[in-house]
Amino acid sequence: MTSPLRNDRFLRALRREPVDCTPVWLMRQAGRYLPEYRATRASAGSFLGMAKNPEIACEVTLQPLRRFDLDAAILFSDILTVPDAMGLGLYFADGEGPKFHHPVRDAAAIARLAVPDMETELRYVMDAVRLIRRELDGKVPLIGFSGSPWTLACYMIEGGGSKDYARIKAMALNEPQALHKLLEVVTDAVIAYLSAQRAAGAQALQVFDTWGGVLGPAMYREFSLRYLNRIARELERGEGAGRTPLILFGKGTGQYVAELAASGAEGVGVDWTITLEDAARAAAGKVALQGNLDPATLYGSPEAITGEVGKVLDSYAAGNGGSREGHVFNLGHGMSPDMNPEHVAVLVDAVHRHSRR
Ligand code: CP3
Repeated sequence: MTSPLRNDRFLRALRREPVDCTPVWLMRQAGRYLPEYRATRASAGSFLGMAKNPEIACEVTLQPLRRFDLDAAILFSDILTVPDAMGLGLYFADGEGPKFHHPVRDAAAIARLAVPDMETELRYVMDAVRLIRRELDGKVPLIGFSGSPWTLACYMIEGGGSKDYARIKAMALNEPQALHKLLEVVTDAVIAYLSAQRAAGAQALQVFDTWGGVLGPAMYREFSLRYLNRIARELERGEGAGRTPLILFGKGTGQYVAELAASGAEGVGVDWTITLEDAARAAAGKVALQGNLDPATLYGSPEAITGEVGKVLDSYAAGNGGSREGHVFNLGHGMSPDMNPEHVAVLVDAVHRHSRR
């Protein structure tokens, strides 16, 4: 039914096996910086209209792979599909980012939350995964994803993006049991969501803990890391070489690499506020590392980009006993709409060229 995988660099790197060169993919590799994305979005009408239509989600997932020599595809969707399916009513106000019609504000609202059914309420996501696998036809592996419980809780309680996380931090201080209750049910939903994506054909899974870094260490361990650990422990993902790898990405969470490496996940993703040399020392060969070029590097010249790519690759090797094995190249966070697609081609080729064994 599905073709054998023709490019397994990404999966091999996550298993810390030898590869011919370092694999690379980019967070937000499908998006507004591509003119073909903007054209598809204009005809679909809206971002959610695209994400909820499996044919369009598939088309947009494949767009960056037609242009660039990327080593993985990532499902085109959003982390907020899960709270949307839990009844919060996701919408995008023009120019304001994501918002919820029904944010979770009290214990009564938390008590009403339940894990959504993956093959009904989130069927459009699973249909997209199945279709993308078929259309990829073994070209590169497909990554499925979810938000972390803490990051999803931030949006669910704040009702949208936030500058100070005042509501959720007040809840953490004043009603910690209520917040834990919410994080428990969201963790159950994340585990069910990732399992369903795996069953539908996702070949690797990434959890985005985008807002883990807004917490101090004690609160990070209590409200974010504890639930990441539960996901890594409880998510059934197979054995041996066929095991579906799990990557835990966090923004501003480089100081916790050793703890994240002890979670049982196969990969840890870091941003550019830690060197990969330090991250690799902290990981001590227990996990693969993913990252961590500052996305703003793409505003530099092709020569500057090539130079910075080399520094990231060499920094990883310096912290990993001189070996490039166990590194997946990525940005430290997502791409922005005003980035130049030609610079992305320079980046991808520089990664492969500089790391060729
Ligand atoms: O990486 C990829 O190419 C896969 C697709 C993907 C999207 N969102 C598409 C998207 C992924 C993995 C996400 C995850 C996501 N969504 C995160 C975690 C990763 C991160 O970036 O930290 C978060 C925090 C969200 C929530 C979200 N969705 C925000 C804050 C926004 C607004 C962004 C903006 O710049 O307006 C979205 C919308 C969104 N999700 C867009 C895309 C391509 C922009 C949609 C558009 O207007 O066309």
